[in-house]
Amino acid sequence: MAYKFLVPKTVISGKNAIEEAAQQMSDLGKKALIVTDKIMVKIGNVSKLTDVLKKSNVEYEIFDGVNSEPTDIIIGEGVEVYKNSGCDFLIAVGGGSPIDAAKAIGVMVQSSGNISDYMGKVINTSIPPLVAIPTTAGTGSEATQFTIISDTKNNVKMLLKGPSLIPILAIVDPEFTITSPQGVTSATGIDALTHAVEAYTSRLAQPLSDTFALSAIKRIFGNLRTAYSDGNNFEARNQMSLGALEAGIAFNNSSVTIIHGMSRPIGALFHVPHGISNAMLIVECLKFAIDGAADRFCEIAKTVGIYKEGMSDIEASKALIEEIKNLCDYLKIPTLEGYGIKYEDFIKQIDKMAEDALISGSPSNTKKQPTKEDIIKIYENLWK
Ligand SMILES: NC(=O)c1ccc[n+]([C@@H]2O[C@H](COP(=O)([O-])OP(=O)(O)OC[C@H]3O[C@@H](n4cnc5c(N)ncnc54)[C@H](O)[C@@H]3O)[C@@H](O)[C@H]2O)c1
Ligand SMILES: [Fe+2]
Repeated sequence: MAYKFLVPKTVISGKNAIEEAAQQMSDLGKKALIVTDKIMVKIGNVSKLTDVLKKSNVEYEIFDGVNSEPTDIIIGEGVEVYKNSGCDFLIAVGGGSPIDAAKAIGVMVQSSGNISDYMGKVINTSIPPLVAIPTTAGTGSEATQFTIISDTKNNVKMLLKGPSLIPILAIVDPEFTITSPQGVTSATGIDALTHAVEAYTSRLAQPLSDTFALSAIKRIFGNLRTAYSDGNNFEARNQMSLGALEAGIAFNNSSVTIIHGMSRPIGALFHVPHGISNAMLIVECLKFAIDGAADRFCEIAKTVGIYKEGMSDIEASKALIEEIKNLCDYLKIPTLEGYGIKYEDFIKQIDKMAEDALISGSPSNTKKQPTKEDIIKIYENLWK
């Protein structure tokens, strides 16, 4: 069996990566559209980039209209700014939201219609050169062919895909993540862990995605607690940035599975941030997934040092899930109720959420195939 493995053309990582990347950025075009959000401008992450661009004589325009759930409408606004200001490449600075928005803007500057026209299709349109500078250690979007954009007409978080969406240059500079507040560090860290665990236990796992997934899991388990409790710890932030990148590379070449499939509908309907909805689901979904992949969960348990001599695959898998639960507790991940969602409102939407989860295609990558009834049961278990 042969496997395809896709990664960004260049990754520059570590301390001062942004300065190191100056030449590569100026080689990509004359004027960049910087796609970001208002917080990135306010806290100075955008000026860290523009200082470097100014020194390299690269012109830029800033589009800071992205929020934490980029929509088709925001993408349209970004496209206007790109065209009206004569840009020829894109630089995204932010968490997954600005990076995903920049990908979708890239698609739409080359084509007419609406971004939702691409739902369910592989995007083959070539996009302008795209640089991604992640400021969360989470989504791995700097290395993936995915973008998640909300369709405001149908209340669906669309998962759009195409190899041309992989950024040409990923600048993984942990300095950009230092200001990430505790709530963002925990949610995005669990998102990255989920990517790696799902990639490793997916039906689509392949030898190279396994390598990146296990390495990511080890780094994230070893550093997320410290990055959360001591945000200024540069080395923990560096390890988390690398772990999130590795996890992104892993699931980009394998896939996510049931947790992500079930997480997007919670995000779309109840506006729970992506990492938190993953974290709310991770324990219940993994309990379901053990059956088909206990040998793989056991391998993860060995990687993170939880496995004890003589444990069966199932026992090791259960010990791993317990450890993930402890991690979520340490990170103070809220329950649905704790997040302020009402049981009656949630139950009313369960059928649509289960349908939307299955339509996304992610749950069917789980080794044990979930039915709609299984998915409904897991959503219900979140209230027990
Ligand atoms: N494309 C992919 O492969 C992929 C994978 C997983 C998730 N996603 C998507 O990514 C989005 C979520 O991205 P995210 O979790 O990175 O969050 P985000 O980009 O929405 O950011 C969350 C909040 O944290 C703030 N923030 C980010 N970095 C900060 C920093 N360094 N200092 C201070 N504040 C900071 C942002 O301004 C924002 O208010 C969702 O839409 C999700 O569906 C995409
Ligand atoms: Fe994710």
